[in-house]
Amino acid sequence: MVACTLNGGTPAAASTDAPPAYEDPTLPVDDRVEDLLSRMTLDDKIGQMTQVDRGALENPSDLATYRIGSVLSGGGSAPTPNTPQAWAEMYDSFQRTALTTPLGIPVIYGVDAVHGHNNVRGATIFPHNIGLGATRDPDLVERVGRATAEEVAGTGIDWTFAPCLCVARNDRWGRTYESFGEVPEIPTAMTTIIDGLQGDALDAPGSILATAKHYIGDGGTTGGDDQGNTELSEAELRAIHLPPFRAAVERGVGSVMVSYSSWNGVKLHGHRHLITDVLKGELGFTGFVVSDWAGVDQLDGREGFTAAEVREAINAGIDMVMVPHDYRRFVELLRGEVRAGRVSMERVDDANRRILTKKFELGLFENPYTDRSLTAGIGSDDYRRLAREAVRKSQVLLKNDGGADGGVLPLEKSAKVFVAGRNADDIGNQSGGWTITWQGASGDITPGTTILEGMRASASDPSRVAYDRYGHGIDGSYDVAVAVVGETPYAEMEGDRPGSMGLDQEDLNTLSRLRASGVPVVVVLVSGRPLDVAGHLEDWDALLAAWLPGTEGAGVADVLYGDHAPTGRLPVTWMRSAGQQPINDGDGKTPLFPLGHGLTYPDTGPDEPEEPEEPEEPGGPGDPDGPGAERCTADYRIVNQWPGGFQAEVTVRNTTSTTLEGWEVRWTPSGALGIDSVWNATLTRSGDTVIATDSGWNGRLAPDGTATFGFTATGSPAVPGVSCGSP
Ligand code: GLC
Repeated sequence: MVACTLNGGTPAAASTDAPPAYEDPTLPVDDRVEDLLSRMTLDDKIGQMTQVDRGALENPSDLATYRIGSVLSGGGSAPTPNTPQAWAEMYDSFQRTALTTPLGIPVIYGVDAVHGHNNVRGATIFPHNIGLGATRDPDLVERVGRATAEEVAGTGIDWTFAPCLCVARNDRWGRTYESFGEVPEIPTAMTTIIDGLQGDALDAPGSILATAKHYIGDGGTTGGDDQGNTELSEAELRAIHLPPFRAAVERGVGSVMVSYSSWNGVKLHGHRHLITDVLKGELGFTGFVVSDWAGVDQLDGREGFTAAEVREAINAGIDMVMVPHDYRRFVELLRGEVRAGRVSMERVDDANRRILTKKFELGLFENPYTDRSLTAGIGSDDYRRLAREAVRKSQVLLKNDGGADGGVLPLEKSAKVFVAGRNADDIGNQSGGWTITWQGASGDITPGTTILEGMRASASDPSRVAYDRYGHGIDGSYDVAVAVVGETPYAEMEGDRPGSMGLDQEDLNTLSRLRASGVPVVVVLVSGRPLDVAGHLEDWDALLAAWLPGTEGAGVADVLYGDHAPTGRLPVTWMRSAGQQPINDGDGKTPLFPLGHGLTYPDTGPDEPEEPEEPEEPGGPGDPDGPGAERCTADYRIVNQWPGGFQAEVTVRNTTSTTLEGWEVRWTPSGALGIDSVWNATLTRSGDTVIATDSGWNGRLAPDGTATFGFTATGSPAVPGVSCGSP
């Protein structure tokens, strides 16, 4: 090995016999990291902290020249042709270049696989997070994560900038659909996706590194302004936006991406307290922190980045900077800051330890190239079947009237159906943003099944399912009309809706045509958020929220035709009007549909034989249904504490053998208690006693079923005598 120096620093001692310790996979990762670190020059270390977009590399050899440690594909940054094979070739080519450096440190390559491997044509596109949140099925979401990881790994890519663990508090926000829900409970529960993505071991076939993003408060900005300002007390920020990140860290998430947004006017990209003290210190996060795309540039509010901004971001605790273009300038500025002592070597070494630890854990030193056994599986039937299951389970039935036995849905398979609407036969529209391109696009952008195609496949005679985008041609001979309307694709700030949140004129005109025919109308909303539709609801016989289902539109047809009854529940409160935004569970406003709302079909199938219940001695001590017995238990936990304040969570469990219709929890605090915020319950007082009652959507508990509520407060967190009952 020829030793060489690059801009100072002592080169690694050229070894003439045994390979260096860091190349020995039998050694503990920490030992390998320390050995490698001891051999690295300053520029080696700065290179590891530098991430560039694939399109920014003027010459691929710059990867080696500048010792760059990471490459990314921003939304839509794909090779030509955009095929899994071309992605794998591109990845392997970058890796070969990186391994020509003296120390042969492999690159780690990241993409936004936020609902499947969505940059790649032919990959399976899953429902966006808002739909997955509606499933309330953490196990399903873990399986979605696993499938996504295997498709990503099949193109060589090692790392996804997902999941977004944002808690969307204002539906005007253009990234509402990237949130699993408006209360911390739901994204916290869905952190199972991290287990799916990272697998049992990061170096196992098909495992990739996950990213909890965007830390912290991106979904809580005033007005739902993307990259805006989150104006909350620390107690509220911790109560609403921190729990999903705590859960992600507990699950071993490998990286965290910092939010563009600000907290009370201070940019997160420069927030040392929240990044270093809270995330790395208090939560004990040991992975690495990556900036958002050119997020460092925003610190001084001016175009481009400066030495001061680089210094501020790195010293705040950012370990890797998604530059992503002017990497030469970044390397030069950071080198200058280190040499001037304004960024310490300790900080640089800490960042490198974090990054290199993940590269070793991923097995990149042993297996730097694409696992080609996974490439052919991308977009396979198995993954598409899973996506179709996720689509089915994400459907939320909001209204179902107008039929003979109570509802116009499910459709008869023999029905004569007129389908209309621009989102009925459009893969691009039903997939939404972050699909093939950053913003997504209408049209046949990738292989899949449209909702209309799914309906025709479900119908007993597809010729009885007519379609016209605008509703032209409908008449009274049809049994039912189905209008698939809503939003067209957008991403990030392009999706902010500070004004109207209603349907656009094309959709309204289409609906008018259908209504004029006198035929019952079913509306299927394909959208990234609740829309302002209360004024039209009485004209619609049924309303189904389909969210952004992705490539497997047949999952929507499965519910429309009753092959699967709808089970989805709203992950966000549905406004009565846009003027109510922000509107969230427990804020005292009256919504059109509350968080957790979701109808199903009347049980039309044959009754399942019930297991005979063991008869309790009526009224006996063992009878949990007996008078006086507690019908539920309340597990009260302090989950967070800070000077003068605390956050508590209480899990209510139905201890009877019958369904509980509503619950309340009572306790008398040992001292003064000032409630700052509450979620998933309504808190009232009776004298010194605090009474928590269910929020309606979480009041119905099956035997052994649970519901969790939480609150933040000032005062004593002492565990009171908690009683639970059914009002
Ligand atoms: C974007 C997004 C972030 C994404 C990154 C890389 O601007 O804010 O979610 O991971 O850039 O594409």
